[in-house]
Amino acid sequence: MTIYVLHGPNLNMLEKRDASIYGGITQETIFNTLVTSFQDVDFTFYQTNHEGEMIEIIQQTNDADAFILNLGAWTHYAYAIRDALEMKSSVIVDVHLSNIYERESFRRVNILDQVSSQTFYGENIQSYIKAVEYCKTKLG
Ligand code: DQA
Repeated sequence: MTIYVLHGPNLNMLEKRDASIYGGITQETIFNTLVTSFQDVDFTFYQTNHEGEMIEIIQQTNDADAFILNLGAWTHYAYAIRDALEMKSSVIVDVHLSNIYERESFRRVNILDQVSSQTFYGENIQSYIKAVEYCKTKLG
């Protein structure tokens, strides 16, 4: 099973962001935890701060059984990424470290809600673990 874990803006600086919200972890910790926890999954990890680059990665990826995306702030307004995902037949899962539905009002808008089959949020690294488990169940 091939899963692409894609990170959007500022997730490369996770350890510098508010630790009371994001837990003070690095994105490398997230990626390493997934590799260690799911040795039967073939992961590709990618982070970019550039929206067009994210769209091109999504467009050009043809071997993903699933995409697990934490689009950071793009989650709340990046319709072009939503449209790129709409063309995909892969399983699409949206993840967030924090509970986006109990923070500022702008974070309650989730532009992926109609293209993703599931969202895991508010459980820090466990949101990602649950997302991979969901993909494994869904893809058999
Ligand atoms: C986030 C939540 C977003 O609102 C925020 O912009 C992020 C991280 C999360 O993982 O909780 O960058 O996606």
